[in-house]
Amino acid sequence: MRFLSPLSFVAIAIALVTAAPPKRATAQVAQTPPMGWNSWNYFAEKVNDKGVRTAADQIVATGMKDAGYIYVNIDDTWEGQRDANGVLHTNSKFPDMKALADYVHSKGLKIGIYSSPGPKTCANYEGSLGHEEQDAQMYASWGIDYLKYDLCSFIPAVLEKQEPNNKAAQMRLMIAAYDKMGKALKATGRPIVYSLCQYGWDSVWEWAPAMGVNLWRTTGDIEPKWDRIYALLSQQSGLEKYAGPGHWNDPDMLEVGNGKLSLAENRAHFSMWAMLASPLLAGNDLANMKPEIKDILTNHDVIAIDQDKMGKQAEHVYSDGEVEVWSRTLSGGAMAVAVLNVGSDRYSTHPFHLSLSKLGLHGAHKGKDLWSGKEMNLTDGQSIEIASHDVLLVRIDSPR
Ligand code: GLA
Repeated sequence: MRFLSPLSFVAIAIALVTAAPPKRATAQVAQTPPMGWNSWNYFAEKVNDKGVRTAADQIVATGMKDAGYIYVNIDDTWEGQRDANGVLHTNSKFPDMKALADYVHSKGLKIGIYSSPGPKTCANYEGSLGHEEQDAQMYASWGIDYLKYDLCSFIPAVLEKQEPNNKAAQMRLMIAAYDKMGKALKATGRPIVYSLCQYGWDSVWEWAPAMGVNLWRTTGDIEPKWDRIYALLSQQSGLEKYAGPGHWNDPDMLEVGNGKLSLAENRAHFSMWAMLASPLLAGNDLANMKPEIKDILTNHDVIAIDQDKMGKQAEHVYSDGEVEVWSRTLSGGAMAVAVLNVGSDRYSTHPFHLSLSKLGLHGAHKGKDLWSGKEMNLTDGQSIEIASHDVLLVRIDSPR
């Protein structure tokens, strides 16, 4: 996929959105970053009705529901064919979507689904082009609570076809397509979280909030590999001002428990996504989750950082060699600090001296190490040892 147009088109987008009719009401949904599970990262096209029911059961049984994971999201590959009336049917993996939604709701959870503004989805299933209102109404009739709306085939089928040489016009068409589905969702009267998945193109964070989008992907796809996770993290710095209650940057769903990530990498990935006020959508096989992975995903102190009601995304304060220091402001005047060793040398813990003054702190402080659960004393310049790809995550309740 390619980049559609330079940042200069943001001005056009803003003008377009400002001129648009009333915003979607976002007050009810995503006041903190959405939490839940999504089928794609582990199951991909193998997702089916049974697997979604199992995920819902497991979210309850593992304590994830109590920890805040509420949305059970079906990603791509549920779609069948449209009939003569344009009604999209599910494929044989999902015999009865309404019954599935009822089941998920009966567990006290919510259910999400996926589509694309193009004629096809990214996995080449049926998309919503030309059927936006009809699809939105159908989602609402099933009881859907969340829509992830991709891009893929919209590029060749609409943008490049209608406006082959005009990037500004392509951007207007893309924004209009997302706005169309946003309005269609709103018209259903059902509160539905609206999530854009267009990889952070055309500074989506500049124009999506104004049209009532609740979250937008800021990057391409995540993979269960440290280098990819770190690359996505690095792309978030500078976007913090766009996040807040009802509208969040989305560096993609979690890979915690997937692939060959080490325990430290799983912990660091989860910590940094919490620092980023990122949606926390687990993407692992919940029925076969190891206890140590469950412990990471259900760490209440770390989740509390992510879900802090102020919704202030962390900023990258400074780096010292291969150690990065990020901080975020929390409600009640508290603060969270993450110290991340991004170096790959397994044998070096990078003895490193934490500068409290660079964090705007004066004198010694008490903090809570959110992974050990222990109180710790922090002094300016103190030596801290962190293993490769591991993190120290500290909450300071009374910073000064
Ligand atoms: C894109 C998205 C993924 C997933 C797939 C499904 O690649 O970025 O998260 O939804 O499509 O086909």
